[in-house]
Amino acid sequence: MRIRGLILAALGLVSGISAVASAAPSVAEGKQLASSQSCLMCHASGAMAKPLAAYRNESAAQLKAAILEPKKALGAATMMPSYQGKLSAGQLDSLLAYIKAG
Ligand code: HEC
Repeated sequence: MRIRGLILAALGLVSGISAVASAAPSVAEGKQLASSQSCLMCHASGAMAKPLAAYRNESAAQLKAAILEPKKALGAATMMPSYQGKLSAGQLDSLLAYIKAG
């Protein structure tokens, strides 16, 4: 009984740690999202928009507004698509971490 309790406690600890890890913004996840969400199709040198690293000095609020509500943040004519509802809050934070990392 005692060992079983210890094993359950250890399992709880491990799953607790992985939950924290997946919630933390990660540059690696952001990089992967930039390609899986097609950001890089438009944001690369020689493409229609500047490489994402060019925006690294913008505030998190400005970046979020541009990604979630581009027409509001960048103007009605922008070609930047809205990612509202397509990214979780954690994914958005990872993308910001990736952009800010340059
Ligand atoms: C269909 C092409 C396209 C895709 C896909 C795209 N963008 Fe954009 N994005 C643009 C264009 C065009 C602009 C506006 C550039 C400008 O006006 O200088 C823009 C602007 C931005 C800005 C605004 C920066 C500023 O000036 O404030 C950010 C941040 C950004 N994009 C991030 C992303 C991210 C992150 C993704 C993927 C989740 C993405 N974009 C996907 C075309 C795209």
